[in-house]
Amino acid sequence: MVVGTQWGDEGKGKFTDLLARDMDMVVRYQGGHNAGHTLVVDEEVFKLQLVPSGVLYPHVTPVIGNGVVIDPTVLIDEMGRLTEAGVDCGKLRVSGNAHLIFPYHQALDVVAERHLGRNKLGTTKRGIGPAYADKAARVGLRVQDLLDPKIFREKLGVVLHEKNPMLAKVYNRLPFDLDTVAGQYLEECRPRLEPHIADTVGLLHDGLEAGQNVLFEGAQAMYLDLDHGTYPFVTSSNPVAGGACVGAGIGPRHIDRVIGVTKAYISRVGSGPFPSELTDEVGDHLVDVGREYGTNTKRRRRCGWLDTVMLRHAVRVNSLSDLAITKLDVLDALDPIRVCVAYEVDGERRTSMPYHQSEIHRAVPIYEELPGWCADLSGVGDRSELPRQAEDYLCFIEEQAGVPATLVGVGPGRDQFITFGPVP
Ligand code: GDP
Ligand code: IMO
Ligand code: MG
Repeated sequence: MVVGTQWGDEGKGKFTDLLARDMDMVVRYQGGHNAGHTLVVDEEVFKLQLVPSGVLYPHVTPVIGNGVVIDPTVLIDEMGRLTEAGVDCGKLRVSGNAHLIFPYHQALDVVAERHLGRNKLGTTKRGIGPAYADKAARVGLRVQDLLDPKIFREKLGVVLHEKNPMLAKVYNRLPFDLDTVAGQYLEECRPRLEPHIADTVGLLHDGLEAGQNVLFEGAQAMYLDLDHGTYPFVTSSNPVAGGACVGAGIGPRHIDRVIGVTKAYISRVGSGPFPSELTDEVGDHLVDVGREYGTNTKRRRRCGWLDTVMLRHAVRVNSLSDLAITKLDVLDALDPIRVCVAYEVDGERRTSMPYHQSEIHRAVPIYEELPGWCADLSGVGDRSELPRQAEDYLCFIEEQAGVPATLVGVGPGRDQFITFGPVP
């Protein structure tokens, strides 16, 4: 399993793509098109939102599990773009139990954010939160409902009866017309999606029983998790490793390796606390060199030094077996390099994550300084070629995290990585 250990955009897509080479299935288990996973292969760039990052290999079956929320128009567009680029999406399988995102979800996401004013969460405005809210409230429509037009219309009618007055009377927005929405989903989307809709839980277990290799691709990350993240500045799903059990339909005993993708520094898009955030020229340098702008939303990402208080907590909650450290090359020109190893909260030194949100807001980072390497790592292909300071930086992270780093990214390309240590 591949999971993010920070606030997203750690480079999960790149390492999922890399590891997918040896897989039979790659499975997304939560989130939706709020994700943006970038793969760079032979200088060709693929930006994926819903389709799992294993799609580039013809031998891989990409699976969208029951825990994902799907805007069918976005999925169809994405498949169309991939097909145009010569990538075959024929094997993609989509869970019939996954929930659908509708235009009213997106409209509600936008108006709810506007309503919050300066307290806004900074969502991707894709309707993710409202779609998961409907799932929990048991008024959501699922992918399988597309296959039964009568039930689909009935359920949609019930939901619109509630959503339309809310949009019109509370938020002063136009209502949605049942026939228009049903027409779009049943007549335009259904024929395109039907060949892909499947019992993905059965598919997954048949594969596991036949000895196939399965990789789970987390979207978002630990600190955007609805339960374990910096609530309320989180997404509405469970990106943590445990989320894969629910969101794909497997028991925890099937999971034998959990790779925590960790950027060599940290970024965050949207609002919320960020103890090691840099608002100075070093922060600007990370944004510029790391090209820290949203894959799809194009928003500038906030950047800061690596925070090992967060990392240690992510190791625990996700049962991380090892780390894939990405974007080490982005630190090439920085000297010294700082790492947040503890927080000062109300005059007290804390090395573990405060559980109380207000303390995270007040936490002042305590840094250790390490020398930079001031060398270009983008061409390094083997651990032995790393400058000593870069090797020391990685060992320091391993020591702080308590788990080994096995893979290290030194550039966006599929080939720009080194294997650092053996898989535990
Ligand atoms: P994800 O959401 O976790 O898959 O990450 P994103 O794709 O949103 O953002 C990561 C960005 O960093 C993408 O543009 C990647 O191409 C790029 N990237 C990934 N690994 C590396 C690396 O090791 N070095 C550099 N310079 N860029 C990387
Ligand atoms: P990947 O998979 C970074 C953030 C949004 C916002 C919060 C809630 O590419 O790492 P939402 O639209 O989910 O309700 O927004 O979560 N967010 C992400 N930040 N990477 C992502 O995905 C994100 N998906 C959501 O910016 O702060
Ligand atoms: Mg991303």
